[in-house]
Amino acid sequence: MTQHPQPASRLLADSSADSAELSFPSGFLWGAATAAYQVEGAATEAGRTASIWDTFSHTPGKVVEGHTGDVACDHFHRYSDDVKLMAELGLKSYRFSVSWPRVQPGGTGRANQEGLDFYRRLVDELLANGIEPWLTLYHWDLPQELQDAGGWPLRDTAARFAEYAELVHGALGDRVRYWTTLNEPWCSAFLGYGSGTHAPGIQDAAATIRATHHLLLGHGLAVQALRAGGTEPQAGVTLNLYAISSQTDSPADADAARRIDGLANRLFLDPVLLGRYPTDVVEDLREVTDFGHIRDGDMAIVSTPLDVLGINYYSRHVVAAPIEGQEPEPYWRAPSTWPGSEKVRFVTRGMPVTQMNWEIDAPGLVETLRRVHDEYPDIPLYVTENGAAFEDAVVDDQVDDPQRLAYFDAHLRACREAIDAGVPLKGYFAWSLLDNFEWAWGYTRRFGLVFVDYETQRRIPKSSARWYAEVIRRNGLAAQ
Ligand code: FCB
Repeated sequence: MTQHPQPASRLLADSSADSAELSFPSGFLWGAATAAYQVEGAATEAGRTASIWDTFSHTPGKVVEGHTGDVACDHFHRYSDDVKLMAELGLKSYRFSVSWPRVQPGGTGRANQEGLDFYRRLVDELLANGIEPWLTLYHWDLPQELQDAGGWPLRDTAARFAEYAELVHGALGDRVRYWTTLNEPWCSAFLGYGSGTHAPGIQDAAATIRATHHLLLGHGLAVQALRAGGTEPQAGVTLNLYAISSQTDSPADADAARRIDGLANRLFLDPVLLGRYPTDVVEDLREVTDFGHIRDGDMAIVSTPLDVLGINYYSRHVVAAPIEGQEPEPYWRAPSTWPGSEKVRFVTRGMPVTQMNWEIDAPGLVETLRRVHDEYPDIPLYVTENGAAFEDAVVDDQVDDPQRLAYFDAHLRACREAIDAGVPLKGYFAWSLLDNFEWAWGYTRRFGLVFVDYETQRRIPKSSARWYAEVIRRNGLAAQ
C-alpha cells in the first residue's frame, strides 16, 4: 500500500497512448463533494435562518479560533465561477447539500422561494456544463427551531425531515436524479448528542441512540416522499463507514472490535439494509436505553429499499480491550462518543497520518467496500467522500500537495481493486472540491482539491486537482 507520498512526476504520468492504464468501468461517475454550511456563506441572506451549526459556531469555545460558516467560501455568490472550475476539471458529478433553513426557514411551513431559486440556478448551471447534480438533503444543518423543540432525539423531527424532502423534491425533482437523504447519521447522532463535539453540542448517551433512530426513520420517510414525487429518483443515504480491527487476536480485543464495529457501522447498515438493529449492539447498549422509542412499523420504513448506497471512507479504527485500572469514566459521568463501550481503547499503529491525525489506510477501503457487498443485499455503491487534510502553502501562485495526491491515488487503486473483486462500485467523489469550514476545526484543516484564500476568495487548483482532472479524462490511473 502507498504509505508515502510518491513523486508527483510519476503520478502525473503523461497521457501517451502506450502507457499502461488501470482503467475504470465506462460511465464511472467521477465527482467532488461539498456541503452547504461548509462552503455557502451568506448565512443571513435571502431569508435563511439559523441552523444548529450557526448557533454552535457562534458559541465561544466550540470551534477552533471561533471560526464560523458566515462567509465560508462565499459559494452562494460565486457558484457560477465554481461550476466553471468544476467543468475545467472535467468533473462528471458534483455532490452538494441543500441548507434546510435556507429553503424552509425554521424547518416548518412554507418554502422560501429565494432559497430554492439558489439551488435551481446551481443545478441548471451544472446541467448546462454536463455535470450531474448529486443532492444531499441533510448535511448536518438542522434548523435551530427544530433543535429547540427537541432535535433528532424527538420523533417529530423525522416527520419534519420528510416534509422538507418533499418540498425540495417538488422544486428540483425534475432536474436532479441522485438524492441522498442524510450525510453520515453517525456523526449527527454520536458527535451531536454524544460527545457534544458537533452541533448541537449535547452530551447524553440515551439521546444519542434516540437521535440515531429518528435520523434513520426520517431517512426512510424521506425516501418514500421522494419516490411519491413520481420522478424515479435514485435515492440513497450516505454512511461514514470504518474499517475496524483489533490490536491483537485476543478474545478481549476482538470483543472491543465487535463493539466499535457495532456502533460505527452495523448500527446504521443493519437497520437501513436489513430492517433490524444488530442484537449484540442492542445488548451492549442495555444500560443506555431499552429502545422503547421504536414503534411498530418503524423498521419497515427505515429499510425502505434504496437505489444506491453512499459510503464515506477516511480511515480505520484499531481498538483494544481496556487496561485494568485505567478505564475512563463511565458514560453517565463523562461525555461519550461510544455509549456503552466507553472503555474500549483506540490505539495507533504509528502509520503515516493526515493533518486530522487519521491513519492513512487505503486497504481499509477495499475491505469496507467488499464487506458491504458481501454482507448486505446487492446494491450499487458509491464512495461519496474520501480525502485528506494536509497543510498547504501557496508558492509562486501554485499549491503543490503531493501527500494529498498520493492519498487519492492509493484510495483510487483501492476502488479499482474492489471493482476487480466484484464490488458494484459506480462512482467516487473526492472530499472536497474546495477547502472549506471543517466543522469543529474551522478553517484550520484544508481538504480541497482547490485551495481557497479566505481573505480574497481566490481559488487555486492544487496539483492534486490537476492530477484528478487527468484521471477523469483517462477514466483511469497509470498502472504502476
Ligand atoms: C466527513 C463530513 C464532511 C467533512 C469530512 C472531512 O465526516 O461528511 O463534511 O467534514 O468528514
